[in-house]
Amino acid sequence: MKLKKGVKKIIIIVVICLVVLSLGIYSFIKIKNKLAYEKTNEYKLTTIGYDLNTAKELIKTYKDAEINYILKQEKNDIYSTLAKTDYFIYDNFYDYLNYYQSAKDLPIRTIVEKVNTNSNKEYYTETTPADITKKELLLVNKYNYLNEDYIPDDLVTISLDYAYGELGSQKVTKETYDAFLNLWNASHANGYYLIINSSYRNYADQQKEYDYYAKTNGNTYADTIAARSGYSEHQTGLSIDVFERGTGQKDFSSSPSYQWLKENAHKYGFIERYPEDKVDITGYSYESWHYRYVGVEAATYIYENNITFDEYYAYFVK
Ligand code: DAL
Ligand code: ZN
Repeated sequence: MKLKKGVKKIIIIVVICLVVLSLGIYSFIKIKNKLAYEKTNEYKLTTIGYDLNTAKELIKTYKDAEINYILKQEKNDIYSTLAKTDYFIYDNFYDYLNYYQSAKDLPIRTIVEKVNTNSNKEYYTETTPADITKKELLLVNKYNYLNEDYIPDDLVTISLDYAYGELGSQKVTKETYDAFLNLWNASHANGYYLIINSSYRNYADQQKEYDYYAKTNGNTYADTIAARSGYSEHQTGLSIDVFERGTGQKDFSSSPSYQWLKENAHKYGFIERYPEDKVDITGYSYESWHYRYVGVEAATYIYENNITFDEYYAYFVK
């Protein structure tokens, strides 16, 4: 009986010890986990004011270097807003933030758009050679230039059925011409007669074009309507200036053929390159007549999403 009592006591002591030990282990694990969690970026983000969902979102979007940067700043919605903005390019993260500092009133989409296209910087600054390996997706603008000796290797002569001037004076690349003929036939079937006023221009021709406007109205004006030599898409052989036969440049934007072209050119691989609502991005005044061949896929995307080729290039091609 005495022994039984002793066993009972031992059992009770063992049970108590086990309970205490379990509680100890449990608390130890809990504290350990807590300390580990406090070392995570998720926790650190919440301590500077981000709610848990936003913290998780930021961690999903940004790599450690950017999270560390964000952790050093005050809480700001810009980081999550940026990541959700259309055409957000990760590599441009710090450029977006720098530009945002000087342009806080602009919508974030505009910040992204301008940084993606470089147009937050002064035109003709930080210029780089255009990547001529991109073929019909070659980007030439106020930041990307062609060398003086660049001549597309597959220029073909445009028939005078479709162009003004003397035979041999109007040329585009073979692919552009084939696409243009399809476009022309479709427009003609709809009762229009498109005619090309200008097409491939070499470096020297472009210089003359620019100088003409510069001499008449000064460089500032010239820069809004003509490219400096080397910076014109006309040197790519992928661009055409087109009107309805019998109408001039000025009347074209109000003509039915322009409306048709605007809505259908993408089906044949062409885009309106300098639209009225993108002057701040392209750096050129509205040119209803300037069409650029980029291929059907790019043209359709650009048309359907109302972006510039500059931004398409930054997001999908570069
Ligand atoms: N007018 C266009 C912008 C050019 O000169 O290329
Ligand atoms: Zn043009």
